[in-house]
Amino acid sequence: ADIPGPPGRRFFGNLRDIDPDNTMDSLCRLTEIYGPIWKFHLGTEERIVIGSQKLMDEVCDEARFVKVVAAVLKQARNGVQDGLGTAHGPEERNWGIAHRILAPHFGPLAIANMFGDMQDIATQLVLKWARHGPEHNIQVTEDFTRLTLDAIALCAMDYRFNSYYREAMHPFIDALASFLETNAGRAKRSAVMQPLCVFENHRYWGNIEQLRRTGHAVINARKQHPSDKKDLLNAMLHGVDPHTSERMTDDSVVNNMITFLFAGHETTSGLLSFTFYYLLSNPATYVKAQQEVDDAIGRDRITSSHLARLPYLSAVLRESLRLSPTVPAIALAAKEDTTLSGKYKVRANAPIIALFAAVHRDPLVYGSDADEFRPDRMLDIEFEQRNKEFPNCWKPFGNGMRGCIGRSFAWQQALVVAAMLLQSFDLSMSDPSYRLQVKQALTIKPEGFHMRAQLRSHVA
Ligand code: HEM
Repeated sequence: ADIPGPPGRRFFGNLRDIDPDNTMDSLCRLTEIYGPIWKFHLGTEERIVIGSQKLMDEVCDEARFVKVVAAVLKQARNGVQDGLGTAHGPEERNWGIAHRILAPHFGPLAIANMFGDMQDIATQLVLKWARHGPEHNIQVTEDFTRLTLDAIALCAMDYRFNSYYREAMHPFIDALASFLETNAGRAKRSAVMQPLCVFENHRYWGNIEQLRRTGHAVINARKQHPSDKKDLLNAMLHGVDPHTSERMTDDSVVNNMITFLFAGHETTSGLLSFTFYYLLSNPATYVKAQQEVDDAIGRDRITSSHLARLPYLSAVLRESLRLSPTVPAIALAAKEDTTLSGKYKVRANAPIIALFAAVHRDPLVYGSDADEFRPDRMLDIEFEQRNKEFPNCWKPFGNGMRGCIGRSFAWQQALVVAAMLLQSFDLSMSDPSYRLQVKQALTIKPEGFHMRAQLRSHVA
């Protein structure tokens, strides 16, 4: 059968159907019109979009489908080459070496060891909000982004950006932000036009040089002043691949160091921002989450053993990622010519966009209230049963071998921060009539969402 889709125009394809500033919204809207599988054309290139649990489950079969490095990720290769997220896969040797060396360092024990560093940075945020007082209009995503960047830098390479102690961002962070933004712009432009953007290109390659120079400087500093901290930098510098007995090259270490910083900050900061947006828009869930924190932790200083006693807060995070997956889609392709749903022909290597935002709201899985924020449905038992009955219905961390290596890191950090904030403050929306506006670059985040934070009486 033919895959449906909007009619295209010669040379331009469906460029007019897709809003370049909010691609995901356009893709979701078109999924509502054309159904769970449809296609569109970017110029002459075809893209297939899928947006149901059934199809998601099918493309998660790693024997038939692989990740493709397309669009923004393809551009990011200019800066981080074959780092974990941007490598084409096991055919690039460095991916396997880095993956095998690093995976144990993202495991539960290693992440538990990072608890103190995560708490250190979260405490800085609590102090900042406390000092600014209850009238201060908190720039939510900006403050969470400072937090996640500082935490990943401290945990990964024992480096302090100290973002809460400076007005302007650290030059490395500015270069990283500009690099990421330009990748998004480049991905929307045809390769023929690229050389014409002289000024932008100059800045872009300058930023890449700055990022890599800083990366090498951090490595050299560690080599000159070794530390026995069990961080990711030491793991990368000293680790030996059990498979090939090889070590990572300095270039590969730099690629992955920059990758952790960019893969690990906006994603988690977006998760925290959406979580507080949803909690505050659904006051009963806020009360329940805060009550759970009070019962489990009370006034004590939070420790890693408290985290297992926060099942409702975990469900809140899952539900937030279901409705607003901060990585809104991934790209895959069939290894060989095949059919999807047993009837739609798909060519090998043709990019398929798996749209989490649509998969996560599949009414056949989540029912008629799929669009509502209802954390109870994500409590352990129901969550696990649903995942058994509808495999791959919740995929915010991607799939299989190419799934997120930083998942436990992100989870622990989000739990610690959310718990500490609920414990310390009564939060409210600065503008109670605020309606969710999503801003999309590589990740999505709520735009224009501001909060106020009143210290709770037991803390003041
Ligand atoms: C991969 C989501 C946090 C590092 C991915 C992928 C997704 C994802 C969907 C697969 C991408 C693809 O298929 O193209 C998230 C979300 C996060 C998060 C939603 C937070 C809520 C983190 C953190 C780190 C990290 C904290 C690092 C500390 C990575 C890396 C990869 C990856 C290195 C590439 C893995 C590989 O291909 O070998 N993430 N991520 N992520 N993530 Fe995350």
